[in-house]
Amino acid sequence: MDIIDRRELPIAVFDSGVGGLTIIKEILNILPQESVLYLGDTARVPYGAKSAGTVKRFTEEAVSFFASKGIKMLLVACNTSSSLVLPDLSGDYGFKILGVVDAGVEEAAKVSRIKRIGVIGTEATISSGVYERKLKELDSDLQVFSKSCPLFVPLVEEGWIDEPESYKIASKYLKSLKDKKIDTLILGCTHYPLMKRVIQYGIGEHVALIDSAKAFVKKVREVLLSDDLLSRRDDKEYSFYVTDEPDKFNELSELFLGAAIGRVKRVDLKECNNVSDFNKV
Ligand code: DGL
Repeated sequence: MDIIDRRELPIAVFDSGVGGLTIIKEILNILPQESVLYLGDTARVPYGAKSAGTVKRFTEEAVSFFASKGIKMLLVACNTSSSLVLPDLSGDYGFKILGVVDAGVEEAAKVSRIKRIGVIGTEATISSGVYERKLKELDSDLQVFSKSCPLFVPLVEEGWIDEPESYKIASKYLKSLKDKKIDTLILGCTHYPLMKRVIQYGIGEHVALIDSAKAFVKKVREVLLSDDLLSRRDDKEYSFYVTDEPDKFNELSELFLGAAIGRVKRVDLKECNNVSDFNKV
């Protein structure tokens, strides 16, 4: 019987679609030896406008998919899933599940000097109140102001990250936060790092933008190290799965990663969760 070296199993990254590639970009920089298994639920994106119950069901289906594949850790890149589902995700899957929220929260609390922090994200993330609750748990003196920016995701997916219209929309969305005189703003959505320039313009140059993807992957590295799960080999492998046609995902990957992914497989999560050999998909 082969003994599995858990250090050489892949890290899994889950997102509602293509946005989790912002995490992949950081993994390539910070954890270059790791193999990665990515799943984007492109057939059901966006999660940000859906109810907590629906996002929970979709996320649980994704977790079961990964459980069948043999992974050493699951990173939930999607802020909406991390906010709505992770706090209550129960079950012993045999791997740790880490969400993107905590890293952004810790980084923002460190960076803010006047303790006035803004958070932007999808409607579902903002109405969950998770960022606000976690920031206050960390430091009860923090004042937190939130705003959902639902048009940012479609703008990014349209490639409109530097259009005059995008600057106007950002200024309109961010006006209320600007009036609150925050000094730090958490980009609480996978897509927002691509809109940094537009967001910085809308909120003002003096406000520090917290890109949770980078903070998150640094934290993941610490956890892998302390659990003795860092890969020791050089022959890493990346596998990408999506739940809809791969073409659009491939197209957008150029925007997110600066390169096309190439081989992306389509998978049906419902079927997967009903059959025993998931590797056949
Ligand atoms: N990945 C989602 C998030 O970070 C944005 C896209 C969506 O709404 O599904 O919240």
